[in-house]
Parts: sequence; C-alpha cells; structure tokens
Amino acid sequence: EENHRESLMIVSGYAAKFFHESLLETEEGQNIGLSYFKERGFTSETIKKFELGYSPDQWEAFTAKALKEGYQQQFLEETGLSVKRDNGTLYDRYRGRVMFPIHSFTGRVIAFGGRTLKTDKNVPKYINSPESEIYHKSNILYGLYFAKKAIRDEDNCYLVEGYADVLSVHQAGIENVVASSGTSLTVEQIRLIGRFTKNVTILYDGDAAGIKASLRGLDMILEEGLNVKVVLFPDGHDPDSYVRLVGTSAFKAHIDKNRKDFILYKTDILLKEAGNDPIRRADVIREIVESIAKIPDSIKASVFIKECSHILEIDERALLSELNKMRLNKA
Ligand code: CTP
Ligand code: MN
Ligand code: MN
Ligand code: MN
Ligand code: MN
Repeated sequence: EENHRESLMIVSGYAAKFFHESLLETEEGQNIGLSYFKERGFTSETIKKFELGYSPDQWEAFTAKALKEGYQQQFLEETGLSVKRDNGTLYDRYRGRVMFPIHSFTGRVIAFGGRTLKTDKNVPKYINSPESEIYHKSNILYGLYFAKKAIRDEDNCYLVEGYADVLSVHQAGIENVVASSGTSLTVEQIRLIGRFTKNVTILYDGDAAGIKASLRGLDMILEEGLNVKVVLFPDGHDPDSYVRLVGTSAFKAHIDKNRKDFILYKTDILLKEAGNDPIRRADVIREIVESIAKIPDSIKASVFIKECSHILEIDERALLSELNKMRLNKA
C-alpha cells in the first residue's frame, strides 16, 4: 500500500521534472510556455519555486519517454498522466498546456493542473488530474506547501480561487496564500488551514460566481470555528489580474483598506440587493443572524450580535432572541 503510493508519487515527480525541463530547455516550451508565463508576469524565481512546466503538443511525448525510462504503465494510468486507448496503448493527457504541479503539504508532487493556451471556448481551460490514491481533491489546497510557514508566522491564511492567484499573490510577497482551485471549498480544506491558523481571509474573484462562493465559504469557515474576513476586488478582477494591474504595494493597500469582517461584508452585499424594501431587509437581518448562529463559541457569537445591532440599527435583544431560536432549532 505505502509502496503503491510511493510509486505514484515517484512517477508524478518525474513528470513534474519532465514538464519543467520542457518549459525551460526545449524550443517549443520556451516559445510557447515560457513566453506565456513571462507575459503573465511570473518571474523565473516563481517558475522555479512552483516547478511550473509545459507539456509538448504531441500525443506521446511524455508517455513514450516515461515508458522508455522504465516507469510502469499502471502508475502512468493511475496518476492520469497517461490515458489508455481502446487498443491498449497510452497517450498523454496533457498536450500543449502550461503545467501547474500540485504539491502535498510535505512537498511531493501528487497531481497537475494543465492550462490551455487556446482561447477557443470549446476547449476546457484547465484539465486536472483525476482522483487517485495520492490525490484527493477535496483534501488539497494548492500552494499549502509553500505557504504553511508564512501562514503560521502571519497567523492568517489568504484563500484564493485559482493557481495563478496563488502565484501572483505569493510573488507579490504575500506568501500565506492557498487556493481551493476549482472545487468549491470543503470542510476538509478548512480543517487543513485550521492546523496552521484560526484566521482566514477570502480573496475570491470579483464576479457573481466569486461572491456567491465567498458567502458559502464564509458560513462553512464559521461553522468550523475559524474567524473569517473577506476582501472584494473590482468586478472582472481576480487577485492575479488585480495585482498585475495596480502593482504590489497598491495591492497590499487594497487588501488592508477593504478587508471586512464577515458581518460587514455580508451585510453590505445583502443590503445592496435588498434596497429599501423593508421585508427584504428583514430577511437580510435573519440571514446575518443565521451566519452568527453557526459560530460554535457563544461568547464570540454574542460579540458579533452586538456588532450586527450597531450596523443594522436593530435592538440587540431582538437579535439575541432570534439567535437563540436558531440555535434551538439546530440542536
Ligand atoms: N478551474 C478548473 N477547471 C476549469 C476552470 C477553473 O479546474 N475549467 C479551477 C482552476 O484551479 C482555476 C480555478 O478553478 O485556477 C479558478 O478558475 P478561473 O477563475 O476560471 O481561472 P483562473 O485561475 O483565473 O485562470 P486564468 O487566470 O489562468 O484564466
Ligand atoms: Mn494501493
Ligand atoms: Mn473565476
Ligand atoms: Mn485569473
Ligand atoms: Mn480567476
């Protein structure tokens, strides 16, 4: 069993090296992959640290080399690096894509995300490794290996959506950053963060999907007993595009200026939606109290009730009785 897992990690490590060398040392990799990364503003240091790569635009470049070097077909298939044809031969899953290796939190490569360079809407933007014995998507945070020390030191974890967001934010000197990458945030991922800090700051994309995901994530984080703040970016931007637009110091200033605790964030968003309709405003209040009711620590919850009563100009006792009703219903 351990041997099996080890074999999968060894072939994944080999693949990361293959893709990284293709990026840096082949003409195709340099012309296509490396120039893409450079255009996106990633430095050589970032490319090296995160072992970014390029998969040649051929059907069997990787698979043929791996087989020749003695890597077993079984492990190539199980990691999803190679795919089996009907006739039993293998071909490369990743072709002509820039490659983001995904590391375990001890630094072993366990999976990949491969981004297309095409703008064709019918081509999936990212292809990711399938689940395997070494890769359980819902338990993994992209970048954690490179972030964990800074998360401890800063006692805070920035949570972003994607690979490029991790790279750009890290490169900007904010190293305590990880991504849930595609899957909506899971309880396992939150508990993983909880091993290093109790404080999470969500930096999701400033579009409708990002806002919706942030509201959902926020409730889950509260439920796990962690503290959560949120920073919104202008619509159409994600942390990666925004840091490139404004530069590192303005990016940091944006975070400091716009960091909101979850009540303020949620209130702002929901009240904007509700407008002046009193019934909808009452719904907003109830939804906020619902979030507060998820906080396991009742003293902390009562502090937030107080804040909520100030923001919404509602009598604290009314909010408390609503809170108690919800807690009773939950029990
Ligand atoms: N994702 C995925 N498959 C997709 C789209 C997205 O796995 N088809 C995951 C990737 O991990 C991606 C993250 O979800 O990084 C966020 O998606 P999105 O915001 O669409 O992509 P970006 O990370 O912003 O990618 P880029 O900046 O390269 O366009
Ligand atoms: Mn096994
Ligand atoms: Mn997005
Ligand atoms: Mn992006
Ligand atoms: Mn994005």
